[in-house]
Amino acid sequence: MTLAKANQYVEQNKHKVNPMYRLKFHAMPEYGWMNDPNGLVFYRGEYHVFYQHHPYDSVWGPMHWGHMSSKDLVSFRYLPIALAPDQEDETGCFSGGAIVDQKDPNQLHVFYTKHYDKHGTIIEKQGLATTQDGIHFIKDQKPIIDEALIYPHGSIKDTRDPFPFYENGHYYVILGSKDHQDQGKFLIYKSKDLKSFSYHDEIVDSIMKDSMAECPDLVRFQDDDLFLFSRIDFLKNKHRNVSEYFIGHFDIENKSYDYTYHGLIDSGHHFYAPQTLRDDKNRVIMIAWMEMWGDHYVTHILEHGWQGALTFPRELKLINKHLYQYPIEDIKNYRQTPINLVNEMVVEKCFDLEIETMSEPFSLRFSHPKDLNNYLDIGYEHKKFYIEGHKLHVNPLERKVSKNQFNTIKLRILVDLSSIEIFINDGIEAFTSRIYMESDTYKIVMTHKIEGQLYPLKIEGEISHE
Ligand code: FRU
Repeated sequence: MTLAKANQYVEQNKHKVNPMYRLKFHAMPEYGWMNDPNGLVFYRGEYHVFYQHHPYDSVWGPMHWGHMSSKDLVSFRYLPIALAPDQEDETGCFSGGAIVDQKDPNQLHVFYTKHYDKHGTIIEKQGLATTQDGIHFIKDQKPIIDEALIYPHGSIKDTRDPFPFYENGHYYVILGSKDHQDQGKFLIYKSKDLKSFSYHDEIVDSIMKDSMAECPDLVRFQDDDLFLFSRIDFLKNKHRNVSEYFIGHFDIENKSYDYTYHGLIDSGHHFYAPQTLRDDKNRVIMIAWMEMWGDHYVTHILEHGWQGALTFPRELKLINKHLYQYPIEDIKNYRQTPINLVNEMVVEKCFDLEIETMSEPFSLRFSHPKDLNNYLDIGYEHKKFYIEGHKLHVNPLERKVSKNQFNTIKLRILVDLSSIEIFINDGIEAFTSRIYMESDTYKIVMTHKIEGQLYPLKIEGEISHE
């Protein structure tokens, strides 16, 4: 499979995409399938977002790396597909990260998993590709980490998603893995020059028992570190995939780890495989796949020609050893004149809503304007927040309740054509879900008087192409 063929295919087919559930201010594939965000990086004055991409169909398939860039992470520009599985030891280019070269800021390195699955043999090795212009990538001929370096530390079939970083004169790569007893773990490799890597250490935690660890990401804040990871829980049949985090100290160089487990990053239905980047303003920004393995892939089932999207970017902060996640400020540049929240108002599904602090229970319903039996509820009762979508006609969603209790609650809600992202009390807890309602508008129905300001968002057209 070549890049030229993949790019040509997208070019020839993108007009076939059905716009019905296309999002206005979220990244999504031009055509075909998208899963994890990859290689998030601020490079040469722009944000670059790569993603797991199957350009030939709206279901998962041989993985490519799709590519887009953005000045503000709100509106994006599609760039040509960056990686295709075109080497002998690749049937897919799986997830990974990016770093700008230490010596040459024009050089960008992307680390990816060379996934090979043919004739009953599965092997995962790690590869490196480099670009000088931010568009064309040249792959290293040999893997940087092959099975000889992985075994016996981790599984040869399941060791992937390189997270690269540079510290104290060394490059490090953290990989998601597991051992032969299904103990999930992270393997760490070290290199001076990006050419020769050696095994360094591993991070094993009991939370990852009977699991496959995926998509590690480490953020250094001033006092503490944040370690994000995803995991497949083999003991579960439903909701097997979770994205979780640790806060503490990860002194990789000296192999000393001291942290506490904090649970899920997002409490909603559709959030997986997050990655972070640090930008020129020193903001730490997280983006995840806004979907979930095992759920119904609605736009695929409906044959809309595309499937999958990314969350709206969130700025991360650690405050009193708690993780806060909040939509990046840049969305405010797209706000129109606010409207006061009133019962039974009908609004287009592209807005940023601020609900003022409430201490009494309430519920707020997003209904189909012509069919009031088709709705999504959110609300606050017994000091907890909930979202409940079992009355949605398309892809009903089960009730999810906040892990925290709140004496008072203040909400920020981002609504796009087929998504909702809710941030509680400045981002101490977040809920992300895909919502498919066959209307351009919602009718908002409230049980109590709720004070709020709704900012319609105006985003120019669909994401443009290079
Ligand atoms: C996570 C994941 C990664 C893998 C990629 C394959 O969603 O399973 O571990 O690299 O997706 O597309």
